[in-house]
Amino acid sequence: MTIAEKPFSGKHYCLASCELQLTTDQNARSISKALASIDPWRCLGYTEEGLFRYLIRSDPSLNRYAVVVCRETAGVVCIRYPWLRGPYLELLAVFPSQQGRGIGREIIGWMAAECPGASNSIWTTASSFNTLALAFYKGLGFAEIADLPDLVAGGYCEILLRKTLKCP
Ligand SMILES: CC(C)(COP(=O)(O)OP(=O)(O)OC[C@H]1O[C@@H](n2cnc3c(N)ncnc32)[C@H](O)[C@@H]1OP(=O)(O)O)[C@@H](O)C(=O)NCCC(=O)NCCS
Repeated sequence: MTIAEKPFSGKHYCLASCELQLTTDQNARSISKALASIDPWRCLGYTEEGLFRYLIRSDPSLNRYAVVVCRETAGVVCIRYPWLRGPYLELLAVFPSQQGRGIGREIIGWMAAECPGASNSIWTTASSFNTLALAFYKGLGFAEIADLPDLVAGGYCEILLRKTLKCP
């Protein structure tokens, strides 16, 4: 793992099942195309172009990494830090062909390990219809904190989730 001066500032992280590499204009194109074709982004009406802009725009607090397995892009993780009282997992996707292999679990573990002392919580949201993601997060220790109706799209409810980290 690259030694980072502050949480989520590394350009490259090696996890057991995958690597995290800063997104580039090149891989942002294929990632945005893949995201627009799967839920929850498809259902919520996100477009490939809008997702591409999200991945490449200047946003110093948003740390965006391609998830790479065997040199192939297998997903994406975007973490907003600093953010209120702990880092906010703004987007996590493991593409369908790589799901169920422990990659998502490992990324959450990396995220928790990356910020010891900086906060005692990590935060995310998931759409209320995304029952599989909610099961994933709850299985990893996240608790539902609040309903956020119409946060990203009219008629849809996002659920704010928090995972409390053990103090060192
Ligand atoms: C949700 C997601 C990130 C999980 O990543 P993953 O790499 O497939 O998950 P893992 O293989 O690490 O699974 C970790 C645990 O969650 C459970 N889990 C994973 N997907 C699950 C699902 N669809 N339903 C129920 N449990 C699930 C696994 O069983 C596993 O538990 P176990 O180790 O006790 O068996 C991935 O499926 C995904 O990107 N989905 C589409 C996009 C999405 O919904 N993103 C999150 C909300 S924005």
